[in-house]
Amino acid sequence: MAPGTTIDILIQGGTIHNASGSFVGDIAIRGEAIIGVGAPNAFGSAAAKTIDARGLEVIPGCIDVHVHLALPFCGTVSCDDFHHGSRAAVNGGVTTVVDFAIPARGQTLAAAHDAWMAKAQGNSLVDFTWHMAVTSDAHLREVPDMVKRGLPTFKEFMIYESEGWNSDDARLYATLELMRANNAMLLVHAESSRVLDLLIARHHTPELMRRHGAKLHPTTRPNFIEAEAIERAVHWCEKTGGRLYIVHMSTGEGADIIKTAQSRGVPVLAETCAQYLVLDDSVFNRPDGHLFACCPQVKKQEDIDRLWAALRDGREVSIVSTDTCSFTREQKAMWWNREGNFGDWTAIPMGLPGLDTLIPIVFTRGVRGGQITMNRLVELCALHPARVMGFDKKGEIAPGMDADVVLIDPKRTIEAKPRVTLQSMCDWSPYEGMKLGGFAHTTIARGNIVVQNHQVTDAQPRGRFVERRLGEFRP
Ligand code: URP
Ligand code: ZN
Ligand code: ZN
Repeated sequence: MAPGTTIDILIQGGTIHNASGSFVGDIAIRGEAIIGVGAPNAFGSAAAKTIDARGLEVIPGCIDVHVHLALPFCGTVSCDDFHHGSRAAVNGGVTTVVDFAIPARGQTLAAAHDAWMAKAQGNSLVDFTWHMAVTSDAHLREVPDMVKRGLPTFKEFMIYESEGWNSDDARLYATLELMRANNAMLLVHAESSRVLDLLIARHHTPELMRRHGAKLHPTTRPNFIEAEAIERAVHWCEKTGGRLYIVHMSTGEGADIIKTAQSRGVPVLAETCAQYLVLDDSVFNRPDGHLFACCPQVKKQEDIDRLWAALRDGREVSIVSTDTCSFTREQKAMWWNREGNFGDWTAIPMGLPGLDTLIPIVFTRGVRGGQITMNRLVELCALHPARVMGFDKKGEIAPGMDADVVLIDPKRTIEAKPRVTLQSMCDWSPYEGMKLGGFAHTTIARGNIVVQNHQVTDAQPRGRFVERRLGEFRP
């Protein structure tokens, strides 16, 4: 940094954590970029604004690579839009979100991209982009154009026939071939649809629904439903050489399959989500257990343990995300069949709120819990998301990077209270009542101070669409 350079924000004396290491120092920001990172007082003290970060942890803004904001799904629309979703994001230290542009029936990928842009632009405190969902063979022709527009990640679902979203093996195979040819990556929701449909049909009787309620959700989705589908997707990945990324992996079996495939050199990566690291399916025993229906559903303690082992010691899970898809209590009540006086679990809007709590959960259970270091937290929630999804100016605190910086008070613990300490529009939270560290003390998104002293500020929404290009990434 040349002497005399004007500094807009100077963050002084914090413990700066990158994935590669930690040190106490200062960060200089000008406009939307980090222009200097150095020892304490390396940049003097002349700045338009100084932030005293002594005693605070300073990390790169995190990237949630899996969110669904204002998604039309299950006969309703997820309640967190880009305005509320981005408030929740910054509250939890997330400064970039990656949504999924899912075409309406008959819509092109180009039109879906425009539709998502209309939802996000001018409404978001954080930067944004999306994975393009391929839901018809016609979409395959648009892949090269999408990659040229900075959208190199695509999504296919192995389930959700009723939404018109599902892909069969032929489309998975053909898409993976295209991924290889276009330097792109296919994200897959892996659940085995035919066997799942059979198990659902067997249990879908008024008598069983009356007796078991929402517990039929986990009953009809045993672990092999996810494991078989991951195995099949990995098989097509291996045969085509097209890059594959398994989203929201929830099972220990899945982690084992990914590990084995990676050891054979198969280009497959996987993410898990915060809910699969803290919740097990005993939540369905609660009177309001139906609220927790998400897809895939939360599993058993042994799955939680296996996923944490992967984060602690392994490379088979590269990223932690949230799969935020929030539905209010009223929306979740769509499952209730008043005439029959019972709930039909197949009618519950599936998904959980989570943007507020990604970093708090990974920090509290992971770092405070002694499972991972701050550097690994940064790797899983900032650096890997940036490298895997192709953001070249994010994921690290270094000169030239976007000024996405988060300060966390390691001593502070906050109770998760919907619409009080959480910014999501959702009137309930799966983590309600949990005492969590890791909420943002300060969040700076592209040089915009959007959280100060644990309060979301009235800053203008300056989040932008970010073009991406995939580089090399090895787990
Ligand atoms: O329950 C979930 N995950 N809802 C969002 C759609 C999906 O499958 O990711
Ligand atoms: Zn999914
Ligand atoms: Zn999802």
